[in-house]
Amino acid sequence: MNLNQEIARRRTFAIISHPDAGKTTLTEKLLLYGGAILLAGSVKARRAERSATSDWMKIEQERGISVTSTVLQFEYEGFRVNLLDTPGHQDFGEDTYRTLMAADAAIMLLDGGKGVEPVTEKLYAVCKMRQIPVFTFINKMDRPALEPLQLHDEIRAKLGLENTPFNWPIGNGPAFCGVVNRFSKEVTLFERQEAGSKEALARSASLDDPAVESRIGIEGIQKIREELQMLETMTLPLDLELVMSGQLSPVFFGSAVTNFGVEELLRAFLSMAPPPGPRQSDQGPIDPSSPFFSGFVFKTQANMDPRHRDRIAFIRVCSGKFEGGMETLNARSQKTVRLSNPKEFFGRERGTISEGYAGDVLGIMNQGQLQIGDSLSAGKVVRFPGIPRFSPEHFCILRCAPSARKAFNKGLDELLQEGAVQGLRDPAASGNDMILGAVGPLQFEVMQYRLKNEYRSDTSMDSMPYKIARWVSGSSEDLAALKGASTVRLVEDMNGHTVGLFRDIWSMESVVKNNPKLVFSPIAPTG
Ligand code: G4P
Repeated sequence: MNLNQEIARRRTFAIISHPDAGKTTLTEKLLLYGGAILLAGSVKARRAERSATSDWMKIEQERGISVTSTVLQFEYEGFRVNLLDTPGHQDFGEDTYRTLMAADAAIMLLDGGKGVEPVTEKLYAVCKMRQIPVFTFINKMDRPALEPLQLHDEIRAKLGLENTPFNWPIGNGPAFCGVVNRFSKEVTLFERQEAGSKEALARSASLDDPAVESRIGIEGIQKIREELQMLETMTLPLDLELVMSGQLSPVFFGSAVTNFGVEELLRAFLSMAPPPGPRQSDQGPIDPSSPFFSGFVFKTQANMDPRHRDRIAFIRVCSGKFEGGMETLNARSQKTVRLSNPKEFFGRERGTISEGYAGDVLGIMNQGQLQIGDSLSAGKVVRFPGIPRFSPEHFCILRCAPSARKAFNKGLDELLQEGAVQGLRDPAASGNDMILGAVGPLQFEVMQYRLKNEYRSDTSMDSMPYKIARWVSGSSEDLAALKGASTVRLVEDMNGHTVGLFRDIWSMESVVKNNPKLVFSPIAPTG
């Protein structure tokens, strides 16, 4: 296969959802189709196994949440699928946000009984910012669910996202009979299996098929026909151009746990979702099929396996072909980085890969030379825009004993580079105390735990009352005027940008209103 064919068959995406909507379950079922795992349950089993290889993962195990994200790769009907697995718990939002910077599309998973939930809203905001296509899967239709039109309206109202059904559910909960494809009008019947079996039987037939009639009756068929008619007037046609630009989301209904509707989702997603496209850079858009290798680091992870005390940088390939051992230039540091022993990840397991193409993700051993947002290229120097930092929602002050300052600084420096927690300093305050900000407070615990276990640094922590951070830019006079405001605390991020901390939305809004010449952004300037 040549370079263009390899790139054309790649699909790189992430699943966004609120915790408990069924992301692990859906991931597992998708992997089953790719033959990547033989038994459903393996992803969860791996989640449990992790604790054997990493001490600090104990926190994850105790809380029953997934802390780190990995990349899952599989083949399906000629496609090479890269599923960027994102931490599901709301405490790990920023890591998830960053992973979305490496995805070309997203599957937005909603619990049919709950609709659009808060974490989904936050993650969708990043997809919207990036204008990537979003495909919606409404899960748990085997349980009582909201009316499909209500879900349709909620997606529009809460996310501002136009959406249109690809298939349409026939009932829900105990009365769930299956889905009807809006375009082919083919019905896929949902048949519960006997107790003990989780998988549902799925049988496809036309609306006129006697099997459909015997399952849902003549009245049921009439109702479906009316509903399909109604959809034509009440919802938009499936305009692929709008889907590609992220303005229209095709909606699928199903039940991941019973594996119902998952293959239809996968097939339709792969046929509609885009292959890797051009990426903006300081050299203009870089076409994925450009002959030279380029990529950027979207995540780094220290000490994934404490036996090796290594650090891994995850690189999204943007153009050309990657070959093991190749030399690249880091545009930030201007240093040569040899990409030796690149790793391919499946959960916690690692295999070595010898080649990769635009859309793929490589894990490279990193001794600190690579940072989030770094651009790497071979043959031509390219800089991709940096990875933005997103507003933390929890803040604390971290202190250490003066005697342990050296280990503390080293640990802090390395862990902050991973980006799960942001470091902030108050230039007006004395001492070396560090203000930490995170999207979820559990990250502070993880930080403290890792400082102690990996860097032998005991710390104490006091939470702070702030809830919102905004990066503030404007003239030095306007910024100076802001310093007097009592409702904002001004600090600096690690790049020296001014950040305003607020206790609540109202104090933020009043400060924004009273300082019209300043720009307040929920996303950090890159660089
Ligand atoms: P998450 O990764 O998004 O947090 O969710 P996860 O897949 O772990 O699923 C959360 C719960 O929802 C699980 O139940 C799972 O079995 C259930 N679930 C997922 N998809 C469906 C579905 O389509 N229908 C129904 N009825 N349930 C679904 P649990 O009791 O927490 O765990 P377990 O049953 O796997 O032990």
